[in-house]
Amino acid sequence: MPATTASAPQPTCAVKDRPSTWLADLVAADLIEVDAVIRERLTSGVALVNQISTYIVSAGGKRIRPLLVLMFAQALGFRGQERYELAACVEFIHTATLLHDDVVDESLLRRGRDTANARFGNPASVLVGDFLYSRAFQMMVSVKNLRVLEVLADATNIIAEGEVLQLMNMHDPDLSVDDYLQVIRYKTAKLFEASARLGALLAQAPPAIEAACADYGRALGTAFQLVDDMLDYEGDTAALGKTVGDDLREGKPTLPLLVAMARGTPAQSQLVRRAIEQGEVERLPDVIQIVRETGALDVTRAAARNEIEKASRALQILPESEYRDALLHLLARSIDRSS
Ligand code: IPE
Ligand code: IPE
Ligand code: MG
Ligand code: MG
Repeated sequence: MPATTASAPQPTCAVKDRPSTWLADLVAADLIEVDAVIRERLTSGVALVNQISTYIVSAGGKRIRPLLVLMFAQALGFRGQERYELAACVEFIHTATLLHDDVVDESLLRRGRDTANARFGNPASVLVGDFLYSRAFQMMVSVKNLRVLEVLADATNIIAEGEVLQLMNMHDPDLSVDDYLQVIRYKTAKLFEASARLGALLAQAPPAIEAACADYGRALGTAFQLVDDMLDYEGDTAALGKTVGDDLREGKPTLPLLVAMARGTPAQSQLVRRAIEQGEVERLPDVIQIVRETGALDVTRAAARNEIEKASRALQILPESEYRDALLHLLARSIDRSS
């Protein structure tokens, strides 16, 4: 694999957490194009829209969803410009969900900076999130492909349902694992699934290949959120760029806590149950100890690995290429991440 040379143009925004040097090299030229589309499409005649959207987008992010569009399109032989527009479009949808999510979650740190809600207030964050959503719809229409519209319209709708379902589950220690999994499939895995499927749609891949791409995205997205939920108990705020413990403060019943309650002693279960009910973030050190001792973090990691294996199997139907290898590599990177 040729390394990126010192003189090669570099993506201008948001490169610090790219999935890996190799992956970044493979799609470096594509990501430069995507960044150009992002910058161009962020523009608005309304100053506050520009200010907030640039604030969050230029803070970085791993760009995993655009990577899926680009890599599946390339793996299936599509080289058209539309891939840049759709890669930028899924990043806008993702960013809109983050603006809204941070308001709902009352989070203060995102991508190593103050959240937009902390810096500019909730109303501005919600409204600029709406701007990014609607701009994303303008972008997807520009591709003039009805199936693309259908996939992205369905995905945004499901993400919204996922976030509402999660809201309804707050402070509920009796949430079932199935109901937890539904939330993460909706709020996170659906956009991964859509991103992967878009690559296949652009390449006009046969239905079986399109389904395999979607399966990969869904499984990777599920694993990604499982790991995110784990990192809230074993991660590091500086590395994550988000405040560890936010989930507990909100009383979010995620898999590490559900497993800890099922496996813990009566006293441990009671402590976790109460922490969820009351959002007792001050019990975070105790809860961290319990999720470790009961093996709840290991169970969560194993569930993520299981999804990664599903994703890996889905790839087998794709023709061999360095892009397919990179998609395989991305699975391992996504599970062993600290940011
Ligand atoms: C954060 O997604 C929201 C989750 C689904 C956990 P990312 O971890 O992809 O966020 P950025 O774009 O890299 O900041
Ligand atoms: C993911 O859930 C949010 C969306 C998919 C919108 P989280 O609430 O866990 O994401 P973070 O941890 O704030 O990034
Ligand atoms: Mg959140
Ligand atoms: Mg989280």
